[in-house]
Amino acid sequence: MSDYLNGLFSLKGQVALVAGASSGIGAEFARALSKAGADVVLGARRKDRIEALSVEIANETGGRTLAVELDVTSRESVEKAFEKAKEMLGVPTIVCNNAGIAKPNWALEDTEEDWDATMNTNLKGMWRVGQVAAKLMLENGKGGSIINTASILGLGVGPQQLTYATSKAAVVQMTRAMAIEWQRWGIRVNAICPGYFKTEINDTFLDSELGQRMLAQSPAKRAGQLQELVPAMLMLASPASSFTTGVALPVDGAHSVRLA
Ligand code: NAI
Repeated sequence: MSDYLNGLFSLKGQVALVAGASSGIGAEFARALSKAGADVVLGARRKDRIEALSVEIANETGGRTLAVELDVTSRESVEKAFEKAKEMLGVPTIVCNNAGIAKPNWALEDTEEDWDATMNTNLKGMWRVGQVAAKLMLENGKGGSIINTASILGLGVGPQQLTYATSKAAVVQMTRAMAIEWQRWGIRVNAICPGYFKTEINDTFLDSELGQRMLAQSPAKRAGQLQELVPAMLMLASPASSFTTGVALPVDGAHSVRLA
């Protein structure tokens, strides 16, 4: 890479923490952050998975990695994970706030439990991780970049997505509020809004007839590949986006802008 591109995009000397790194988008982000030069902390509840992935990434890139148990629905767990990261690798200056769940159901069938579980993970969990991260970044005095994984369902709505889409729309608004308040400390906060990428959260749906029809009718006529999502995240993580904050960036093959 040229010195020019390195200056813009290299993450050397940075510590990145990925919440929800045990599969799908989070696992791909962890891999990419390490390739871009960051020390990477993989956080998730499934310790066996992140431990194996942590070793795999370190072997592949030669970078430093660490697996920490993390449940975003518990403040104690989030604080412990960040403390461990700080102790072992340093204060995270990049945080991919990515843990999420989906409980698709018709609006009349949604239950109290589904609402609470979705909001507790997707919205309150992201708020909690963002706040704990920002407090440490503030103390550290070097600023940082927080990237919240929202969704195109935070920008528009689909059937059976009342709770999920509501949680992700709130994540977009939360991103803007965090960006405004934390700019004074050099902390940038942006949201990435993926379209459809096949992962554990949606593989059954995307493989179904309904899912296949939905993809065929989308402007790109296909799901995205995870490696097509990564560059947007790297841009938001890196000095290349030093004046970009409070943005919700769709990466969706124009799915979110199509009216019919
Ligand atoms: P996934 O199911 O493979 O990954 C979700 C990750 O979040 C997993 O690592 C899971 O263990 C973790 N997680 C869930 N609850 C957690 C908790 N309480 N504490 C810590 N970690 C927890 O699915 P995917 O697709 O990789 O999802 C990642 C994010 O991307 C989610 O926020 C999802 O809503 C979002 N997203 C995914 C899209 C897609 O098409 N795959 C589209 C738009 C957004």
